[in-house]
Amino acid sequence: MKVIVEKNYEELSKTAANIIKDEIAKKPNLVLGLATGSTPEGMYRELIRLHKEEGLDFSQVTTFNLDEYVGIDKDHPNSYHYYMKTTLFDHINIDPNNTFIPDGKVENPEKYCKEYDRLIEEKGGIDLQVLGIGENGHIAFNEPDEALNVGTSVVNLTESTIQANSRFFDSIDQVPKTAITMGIGSIMKAKKIILLANGKKKANVIKELLKQDKITTKLPASILLLHPDVTVIVDEEAYNG
Ligand code: GLP
Repeated sequence: MKVIVEKNYEELSKTAANIIKDEIAKKPNLVLGLATGSTPEGMYRELIRLHKEEGLDFSQVTTFNLDEYVGIDKDHPNSYHYYMKTTLFDHINIDPNNTFIPDGKVENPEKYCKEYDRLIEEKGGIDLQVLGIGENGHIAFNEPDEALNVGTSVVNLTESTIQANSRFFDSIDQVPKTAITMGIGSIMKAKKIILLANGKKKANVIKELLKQDKITTKLPASILLLHPDVTVIVDEEAYNG
C-alpha cells in the first residue's frame, strides 16, 4: 500500500483529481468507481475545474457508485443520486446513461445487487476506484462485522455510521438504517484503488490501517492490504492526528 501525505485537504483533493485525469488520458473510456461523503467533495470540485479550464473530457467515461441508502428517493437531497448529480455530474460532460448508482428503492434488491455486479463486469470492470473510509474502518458501507459480503448487497448500518452520517440529515431518526453497497469483492476487483482521508476525525482509523499487518473483518479497509495497487492519500491532520 503506497501512502501519500499532503499538506492539507486542498492538496489532497488536487492529487486525487490528477490521478483520475492521468487515467482518463491513458484510457478515455475509463470505468471509474466513485464514492460519496464529504471527503471526495474537494476532488470533485477540482475535476470540474479541470473539465472547464483544461477540457478534461468525460464523454466516454463510465462511472459506478459504491452505495446508496435503502428506501430513499433519487431526488431526496440526502440520496447519493442527488449528491452525485449536484456535486459532479451536472457540471461535466458525462453521458447520464454511463453513470450507475445503486437504486435504493428497487423491489427485488437481491436480484438487483447481482445485476449491479454483472453490469460492472459487462463494462469491463472498474479501472480506478475512489474510496473514502469511515471512522470505524468501513469502506463503502461494508461495516465491521464477523463476516463481510463479497458482492453487492443490502446491509445494516452500524450505530456509529448512523451517528456519523446524521450530520447530513435534520435528525438522527431520518438516517436510513440500511443501504445497498458494493461488496468487498466488488471493490477488490478494481484494477487500481485510491483511498482518501482528511482531518483529525480520521487520524485513529488511518493509524490503525497503516500499522495493520493482518486482515481483519473488524477493520474492513484492512482487506486492501491484499490489493496490488492501492494508494492511500491523506492530509497531515489525518496522518498525524
Ligand atoms: C459514508 C460512505 C462511504 C464514505 C464514508 C466516509 O457513510 N458510505 O462511502 O467513504 O462514509 O464519509 P465521509 O467522507 O463523509 O467522512
